[in-house]
Amino acid sequence: MLQWQEDGNNRSNPRQKSPGIGAFLFLLGMRKHLKLLIFFLVGCSDFGTNPKEEVFLDDVSFAEDIQPMLNASCINCHGNNGGLSVRTYDNLMKGTSNNGPVVIPNNGIGSFIVKKLKGNASGDRMPPEPANPWDDSKIEIIIKWIDQGAKNN
Ligand code: HEC
Repeated sequence: MLQWQEDGNNRSNPRQKSPGIGAFLFLLGMRKHLKLLIFFLVGCSDFGTNPKEEVFLDDVSFAEDIQPMLNASCINCHGNNGGLSVRTYDNLMKGTSNNGPVVIPNNGIGSFIVKKLKGNASGDRMPPEPANPWDDSKIEIIIKWIDQGAKNN
């Protein structure tokens, strides 16, 4: 602005500066939006390429991955008070007296525990309300472990 006022050529014809300043302001405005857009795209791409999950899922351990998840969400009700117990590997593999095994090694999707976690079996989805149901990525860890042979590893 100041620069233009000191410029004798432009002062004689003020109309000339309008498109220049207009374009400058327009670009300034766009730059702001561009930043937002880039920010948004970077955020999205981070979402799609979360490496932690994939590395983690390569080799699922019962002791380190599965048992802690069961302890946190299931053991309160599935301890040693009859019915399904998830307290130990052996308890979990024994299943229930009425429904039999809940884990079928190498068949994650077909295992009853996965159907209960997804809400695809009769009765309540596990863990029942008011607890939050497990999201898919968490259930995927159980499926992976079962598909890898449901080992006591
Ligand atoms: C608040 C108590 C509670 C919690 C927490 C809970 N459950 Fe259950 N669960 C039940 C009850 C009650 C039943 C039997 C009724 C039904 O199937 O809806 C059951 C049934 C099941 C069954 C079917 C067993 C059978 O004998 O038929 C499976 C498998 C199961 N739960 C897995 C889980 C898993 C895995 C978790 C943790 C993510 C969990 N539950 C958390 C109360 C609970």
